[in-house]
Amino acid sequence: MEKCRHVLPGEHIYKGRLFFGYTPPEVLDAVLDFEVRDDDIFIVTYPKAGTTWLQEVAWLIVNDGNVGKAKGQQVYFRSPFLEFKDLVLNEVGLEIAESLTSPRVIKTHLPVDLVPSRMFQTKCKKLVLFRNPKDLCVSYFHFYRSSSSFGNFQGSWSEFLEMFLNGHVDHGSWFDFTKGWWSKKDNSDVLILFYEDMKKDLKSEIRKISDFIGKSNVTEEMVARIADHCSFENMRTNPMTNHHDVYSIDREISPLLRKGVVGDWKSLFTAEQAEYFDSVYSEKMEGINVPFQYYI
Ligand code: A3P
Repeated sequence: MEKCRHVLPGEHIYKGRLFFGYTPPEVLDAVLDFEVRDDDIFIVTYPKAGTTWLQEVAWLIVNDGNVGKAKGQQVYFRSPFLEFKDLVLNEVGLEIAESLTSPRVIKTHLPVDLVPSRMFQTKCKKLVLFRNPKDLCVSYFHFYRSSSSFGNFQGSWSEFLEMFLNGHVDHGSWFDFTKGWWSKKDNSDVLILFYEDMKKDLKSEIRKISDFIGKSNVTEEMVARIADHCSFENMRTNPMTNHHDVYSIDREISPLLRKGVVGDWKSLFTAEQAEYFDSVYSEKMEGINVPFQYYI
């Protein structure tokens, strides 16, 4: 397949990574100096890995399974997006994070070298969620189509696939992100999670996260309550998690909670594209064995 370079309105490059206007250079500079607290919990994901899902799960674990409180405020205010700045609404992730009481649950999509330097100098916990890159790429394509944040992208699936494999997408290369964070997997403050494991057994992942962040009062009843609140159907219909109020997302084109399944990549990938993807993957991920699951 031919290599191509799509330049969309609003793109900029910061330290070799592509970003759009909602992540301006001055915010990325400020993120590096962000005051991390010892008891912060970071949700670290590449876009479309299931970020919102893990934000809601982690926030509820931290907040003793208080679903009533979770239903009272948008997830993006309870768990701010660190590098986000919306000039229209005057919402700045850094400011929201600074205003929160501890322990905070903070979302970032940044590669490991662009996160706050204090993230590795404090005892803060990093929950790193991965998703198999074929499903993630399909999910990202639909998000690019539905969101006005990405220069009003009107391209085709095959164009997007090429952009994705070349790292010409928002927040830069998935390969770069994945290799960087995977290299931190043995750090005692890093927990690697997989979307597919959450799909297979959410309760078990809730227990794993609770143990990791040192939450000792999590009962089985609380685990069940969190799992129920965070089911795909419940989050899809919950106005505090489904992002229906987010003006930049046209949910008629594709809602944030779209299908929520493993294996949807088959709906768009042709056999030739899957083979091409696998060959690029083998080349770029040589020597790195991340146990991705493409089917469950
Ligand atoms: P699909 O587009 O494949 O449906 P992010 O929050 O990182 O943008 O990720 C969005 C993806 O996570 C979407 O994938 C969305 O449906 C999925 N997702 C969100 N909440 C989920 C849940 N409770 N269960 C399963 N998948 C969920």
